[in-house]
Amino acid sequence: MKRTKRPYVVCHMVPSIDGRIVTRHWKLPPKVLGEYERTARTYDADAWMIGRVSMEPYAGKARVPKRKTARPIPREDFIAPHDADSYAIALDPSGKLTWKASDIDGEHVITVLTEQVSDDYLAFLQAKGISYVFGGKAEVDLEKVLRKLRESFGIRKLLLEGGGGINGSFLAADLIDELSLLLAPIADGSTGTPSLFDAKPGKGPTRHLKLVSFEKRAGDLLWLRYQRRR
Ligand SMILES: NC(=O)c1ccc[n+]([C@@H]2O[C@H](COP(=O)([O-])OP(=O)(O)OC[C@H]3O[C@@H](n4cnc5c(N)ncnc54)[C@H](OP(=O)(O)O)[C@@H]3O)[C@@H](O)[C@H]2O)c1
Repeated sequence: MKRTKRPYVVCHMVPSIDGRIVTRHWKLPPKVLGEYERTARTYDADAWMIGRVSMEPYAGKARVPKRKTARPIPREDFIAPHDADSYAIALDPSGKLTWKASDIDGEHVITVLTEQVSDDYLAFLQAKGISYVFGGKAEVDLEKVLRKLRESFGIRKLLLEGGGGINGSFLAADLIDELSLLLAPIADGSTGTPSLFDAKPGKGPTRHLKLVSFEKRAGDLLWLRYQRRR
């Protein structure tokens, strides 16, 4: 049987000089955000994906109701009706995100779950019109998820946009094809805060990269592009 291809993955991030990524206290001028969006657009990607923690502010807060009937819901992927051709994807293994809507600025929401999520949560997602795919029973197989995203939604290019937890998991699984960094003119100096890649303990790989281009952008950002050297 022919294996489905997976999308091409570009990890697009704004790290400090020392690789930290929590931008809250950096007081970056708005033009930095503009540069982030402008450079992201040059990739012409079909989707962006972020970790559960980074998605929280975008997902909002809704109530997950308890169902009246106890009929179990099969652990099968669900494609909600939508007419979007671009996607906002969350990696949320235990179903913690309380989505308010099924789109983010017109981009259809897809959430990646494990089979351990509750039936109430699946009913909530279906009622909200949010698509979901299962990544595994208790752990997420990221490569399998990427293949499903290509097969079921036609996603060919995906921007992986942090934070450190999800980036580290993709790096460990060797699923990052390109790295696009807007290096901020900030020495952060913190320890114990999320960094560009936070793989799980013992899973921190070393990956070699090839520098493709570098460019000075507005706000003293340095846009560095690398490809995975295979
Ligand atoms: N500077 C930038 O460009 C940039 C970009 C994005 C985000 N950020 C910042 O990054 C910070 C958040 O980073 P973070 O590392 O704490 O969180 P994160 O990567 O956004 O989310 C981590 C969560 O995603 C889920 N996850 C990640 N890898 C997984 C895997 N292999 N299998 C199953 N689930 C997985 C887990 O959810 P569960 O805990 O539910 O299991 C994990 O706790 C925020 O402060 C945000 O503002 C910065």
